[in-house]
Order: sequence, then C-alpha cells, then structure tokens
Amino acid sequence: MTEAGLLTEIDHVAIAVHDLDAAIAWYGDAFGASVDHREVVDRDGVEEALLKVADSYVQLLTPTREDSPVAKYLAAKGEGLHHVGYRVADCAAALDTAKAAGIRAIDTAPRPGSRGTTVAFLHPKSAFGTLIELVEE
Ligand code: CO
Repeated sequence: MTEAGLLTEIDHVAIAVHDLDAAIAWYGDAFGASVDHREVVDRDGVEEALLKVADSYVQLLTPTREDSPVAKYLAAKGEGLHHVGYRVADCAAALDTAKAAGIRAIDTAPRPGSRGTTVAFLHPKSAFGTLIELVEE
C-alpha cells in the first residue's frame, strides 16, 4: 500500500440519466467520447455505459425497472451525479476498514459489480452526502 491509502484510482464517476442513448450521444458530440463497455446489471435494475477517461470511466446509468434505486433517485433528485467509484486492491479489506472506522455500509459484504468487478457501497449519510462504491477489478 502506498501513502495514499486504500484508494488507488478514481474508477468511475456515475451519472444518472433518463435516456442512456441520448446521454451517450451528448458525450460523443460534446467531447468525442465513445462507449467502451455497455451492460445491463439486472440485480441493480440498471443499464450502464462506460466512457473511458484515461484509466477511469464516466459511467452513465439509467434504470431498467421502476423499483430500481436509480429510478427512485431520478424521481427524487433528477438527473445528475449519482455516485463515485473508488478503485481498491481488495474490496473486502477496504470494506472492513471502513466499517471499523464506523462508516455505514450498504453492502455488508463485497458483491459482483459490472465488468466482472467486485464492489461494495457505503452509505451517503456517513460519507458527506456522497454514495461511495469501492471497486476491485
Ligand atoms: Co458504479
């Protein structure tokens, strides 16, 4: 581990949108960005598109069903920044460290994310209003 601690990179910045294709087209028109990976994550009720930015991604997220947390987020807050994914070497170890520091976790144990990653979410109420995802590639 480096002096920077457990977080090794920004893995992705996730933005909730109503229309995934429109958002992808917007990023293409505005920045020449293109989709590196697109996936429906059934368990979370979302479809995501990842646009590569250096070694990180912008993750455009849209709900695939009404009871998806992202659908609830869009209904309550509208489109915008949804969460930040921090890359870690070991998701279980990072989650344990966070829990030991008294941080409220949404996931009690690491679980599968998109792209074959292992992830765990920390609650925004104990993280300065930011939903945090720990991402192990
Ligand atoms: Co994410």
